[in-house]
Amino acid sequence: MGRRTFESLPGGALPNRRNIVLSRTQPSLSDCEIFPSLEHALEGCSHEEDVFIIGGATLYAETLPQAHRLYITQIDDMPAQADAFFPLIPADEWKKVHEERYAPSENIPGYAFIDYIKV
Ligand SMILES: NC(=O)c1ccc[n+]([C@@H]2O[C@H](COP(=O)([O-])OP(=O)(O)OC[C@H]3O[C@@H](n4cnc5c(N)ncnc54)[C@H](OP(=O)(O)O)[C@@H]3O)[C@@H](O)[C@H]2O)c1
Repeated sequence: MGRRTFESLPGGALPNRRNIVLSRTQPSLSDCEIFPSLEHALEGCSHEEDVFIIGGATLYAETLPQAHRLYITQIDDMPAQADAFFPLIPADEWKKVHEERYAPSENIPGYAFIDYIKV
């Protein structure tokens, strides 16, 4: 994850997994491993590990070309103050392989879990 995403986590580092944070400015942050570049971070992972990119917008945009699979939660709503967005998913590069859609209920907008694989 990018440094700003880490700082947005309400309870700090996520439990029961490696928390790898990219930052060019922070030499350390609590309970996570910091790497100064994407290349260094990926070199720090073994081939046996599944690597998940969990945001934010900067990291998603940087890593989309290298990703093999996307696990998207699409929410049918947008807060007026939204200022970070997932990049466009090019339809000719990604194939939808799973979609689970949930209708809106009282205070919850509609949402869907959508998986894509690289064509
Ligand atoms: N809804 C969701 O699924 C979701 C998921 C994740 C995040 N978010 C939201 O997205 C927002 C943050 O997204 P963002 O795009 O503003 O920031 P971000 O991607 O989380 O973090 C950007 C920072 O990461 C570091 N970074 C990025 N690429 C790097 C690279 N190649 N090498 C070294 N460092 C690198 C830099 O940190 P330094 O400035 O320290 O160098 C950069 O300023 C937050 O509001 C968060 O809550 C939402």
